[in-house]
Amino acid sequence: MLILVTGGTGYIGSHICVEMLNEGHSVIIVDNLANSDRAVVDRIEQITGKRPLFYEADVTDAKYMDLIFSTHYIDGVIHLAGLKAVGESVEKPLLYYQNNVLGTIVLAEQCLKHGVGKFVFSSSATVYGDNPSPLIETMELRSAANPYGQTKAMSEQILKDAANVNPEFAVALLRYFNPVGAHPSGLIGEAPRGIPNNLMPYITQVARGKLAELKVFGGDYPTPDGTGVRDYLHVVDLAKGHLAALEKLNPGVEVYNLGTGRGTSVLELVHAFAEATGIKIPYSIGPRRPGDLAVVYADPAKAKAELDWEAQYGIVDMCRDAWNFEKNFS
Ligand code: NAD
Ligand code: WQD
Repeated sequence: MLILVTGGTGYIGSHICVEMLNEGHSVIIVDNLANSDRAVVDRIEQITGKRPLFYEADVTDAKYMDLIFSTHYIDGVIHLAGLKAVGESVEKPLLYYQNNVLGTIVLAEQCLKHGVGKFVFSSSATVYGDNPSPLIETMELRSAANPYGQTKAMSEQILKDAANVNPEFAVALLRYFNPVGAHPSGLIGEAPRGIPNNLMPYITQVARGKLAELKVFGGDYPTPDGTGVRDYLHVVDLAKGHLAALEKLNPGVEVYNLGTGRGTSVLELVHAFAEATGIKIPYSIGPRRPGDLAVVYADPAKAKAELDWEAQYGIVDMCRDAWNFEKNFS
């Protein structure tokens, strides 16, 4: 298949491109490089021996997208291009709605116009809002706590409505839990600009000596050690989930959780990092971060039953590979 991967030079997108190319598919990347580097295209080639076609373009640019869809016979789209900083989305809601929601509309329109039947969308566990874990696909969504989360819920709804009236349109809405880690080669991984918002890149930067210590956001949650619990998922497992979803796509809309089903606390992750790397992360416990939930983890049974997909890596692997990338590329 020829797959268009939007956001393909980004953290998750680059790992998806590697898995797609390794499985013999061809890949076109569209990315405006808002949060990534074109050198990632070279690294994908270094890992796979195959070079994806790269367009530096904005997915909200309908004319340019039309040109790309007219030039290539695309079999499917994996739509990851989007802005993802929760805090920034509160400061700049219109930017997030414009970029993330319009991007989804433009790509869905192009698919329908050009007869591209397969669409895989990067959604997020954030659409479950404060539903209790384990989170199951059939739960009614609760309002996401920030504009970023709203753009994911809106994009899901837009794709469902489009599929309802276009019987050939096959959509998979993939709700990611907490992707971490990096490709075992150490050539691609998460390289946030500025101070990281997320836990794992913060830990690797403390390990590197770029940041002094980890601030643990809250030590009084109703969890075994008082710190927040999340479902961390190796990014290579996540990438493989896309391949599985694409291969099993049928007309209509299906929603899948991509998570491990296991919760890990902040302090457990800090200890796993020490086990994987020998590096003890200095930390102090501070106040809770506004908007954070105590416990978030997936029920991954549907993806296992229907996609034959389940996560293979554990948290020590995730820490090892995240550190391997940080050492190589910072
Ligand atoms: P990322 O920022 O590394 O990758 C996103 C890519 O999209 C970047 O390369 C960026 O330059 C590009 N991009 C942004 N807006 C664009 C536009 N208008 N046109 C073209 N390219 C554009 O982020 P990531 O972690 O790889 O996330 C990929 C997707 O997965 C995003 O949609 C994100 O919301 C979603 N997601 C991420 C997580 C996570 O924790 N990383 C969790 C759930 C969902
Ligand atoms: C994990 C845990 C923090 C940083 C976010 C988005 C979500 C999704 C994934 C895109 C929490 C704690 C963190 C730090 C800490 N993204 N923490 N100190 O908040 O679960 O999810 O990324 O869709 O939408 O909200 O991930 O990595 O920020 O936090 O103690 O410096 O680590 O409180 O318990 P989160 P995270």
